[in-house]
Amino acid sequence: MDLVTAGRTTAEGLLAQALPRRWTHVMAVSVKASEVSMILDEVERPLLVAAAWLHDIGYAPELIDTGLHALDGARWLRQHGYGKRVAALVAHHSCALFEAEERGLADVLRTDFVDEETALRDALWYADMTTGPDGQNLDVLERLAEIRTRYGPRAPAKSSGDAE
Ligand SMILES: [Fe+2]
Repeated sequence: MDLVTAGRTTAEGLLAQALPRRWTHVMAVSVKASEVSMILDEVERPLLVAAAWLHDIGYAPELIDTGLHALDGARWLRQHGYGKRVAALVAHHSCALFEAEERGLADVLRTDFVDEETALRDALWYADMTTGPDGQNLDVLERLAEIRTRYGPRAPAKSSGDAE
């Protein structure tokens, strides 16, 4: 099975039934990631699309451990044969480090996974941060406002901000 198909299958199994709204969001993020993947070479394109499918699996009830979904998802991926790079892309997606700082997990996140700070990583963040919880297109400011509305001002900063 190729990486993108594996990513989609994994995400569908973990999210589609348990968290259908999240699954809708993830499907839309993956479409957007595919669209922007033309900025990358053919080696990196599948990494981006697979990471898009997988970026929110840490919200799946069976994966929750630390409560930082980016970290929980990345650790699961690392344990289940997805390469270091996909796991690290998921670990750091959409400013996960800010939420990690508020949860006291920043050192763990940084130690366990490297934020590659590349165009690929930016493309993943872009796809996630311009896609709302129901899969709708939003610009980044609309998305951040939507996150604040959904969680309230006292919640920890959200990295990809799309908990149900
Ligand atoms: Fe997301």
